[in-house]
Amino acid sequence: MKALKSDNLKVIITGCGFKPISHVYRYNNKPSHDSIFIDGVEYKMNIGTAIAYYFLKKGEEIIMVSRNAEHLEKIKQGLINLGCKGKNISYVAADLTTNKGVNHLIDKLSNSAYFYWVQSVGIGGGTYKIPNDNIYLPFEKIEPKLIATEMGIVTATHMLMLKMVPIFRKQIKSKQKAKISIITSMSGERGYHFGATHVAAKHALVGYIEGIKRELRDEGIEIFDIRPGAIDTGMYDNPYTRKAVNEVSRRTKMWSGRLPIYAHPLKVAEKVYLSLFDDKPKEVYRILAPHQK
Ligand SMILES: NC(=O)c1ccc[n+]([C@@H]2O[C@H](COP(=O)([O-])OP(=O)(O)OC[C@H]3O[C@@H](n4cnc5c(N)ncnc54)[C@H](OP(=O)(O)O)[C@@H]3O)[C@@H](O)[C@H]2O)c1
Repeated sequence: MKALKSDNLKVIITGCGFKPISHVYRYNNKPSHDSIFIDGVEYKMNIGTAIAYYFLKKGEEIIMVSRNAEHLEKIKQGLINLGCKGKNISYVAADLTTNKGVNHLIDKLSNSAYFYWVQSVGIGGGTYKIPNDNIYLPFEKIEPKLIATEMGIVTATHMLMLKMVPIFRKQIKSKQKAKISIITSMSGERGYHFGATHVAAKHALVGYIEGIKRELRDEGIEIFDIRPGAIDTGMYDNPYTRKAVNEVSRRTKMWSGRLPIYAHPLKVAEKVYLSLFDDKPKEVYRILAPHQK
């Protein structure tokens, strides 16, 4: 059951993007990605954009955040073409690994609105170019810099947390709610072959939530941990990642020895929505592959 919502709520979604369709994964003969059309070309929604789409369809107002204003405008147009209301969509381009970027986002937040925050930033490349865009590597092939880059997600989350919490305190004082949903990963609770980078970084992010949640809850700020398994956002499309994940599947038996099966990003969005708007939300939501239900 959905709780009553106030009219001036805006949901900040950090990490909205899209990726080209280089490979179509299917489950039961249907593609497992969700599409957005950018300049008339079909792309895969990432998790942040799928959350934006799902929330807009539910009538919420959203603020999308990632680093490139041009991309964000194209996502906005793509969402409008999918039937979303343009007036409910705004965006801020900001690099959330820098103080300047974080401050820029905070400066753009209106004083008359109140906010929930969904964190879905993935520190992909940044200044470090991931070799072959593939993080699933045997541990001896992992450069220490790659681990540091992925770990940056925890630092970036904390940087924005430090700025959001004072805003949340004001909201609570004025009898509004204050909620945060963080997209972590099933890699935050279990391991697999070639997982040292990603499993370490996601355990750290889950650990960050575990470490901070009591202090937040003491103040009435709610925080939720959303743990997707493998989601078809385009990050598994390139041939190097596909080969590596097929090998993970064979060696770890992640999908009972089958080739990888991916879930839709909109399945993640559904759980994020429940975390923020259900009367009795769970602390942790897991999004597994469709055959694992
Ligand atoms: N896909 C999966 O299977 C899966 C499974 C479990 C967990 N996850 C996690 O869920 C999150 C989202 O995944 P995804 O597949 O949607 O990944 P993604 O497409 O790489 O999304 C990450 C988003 O973060 C933005 N971003 C990166 N660096 C940023 C920065 N410094 N400042 C602001 N924005 C930044 C990117 O946009 P710009 O590059 O334009 O800034 C992009 O929109 C990630 O943390 C990922 O690890 C994904």
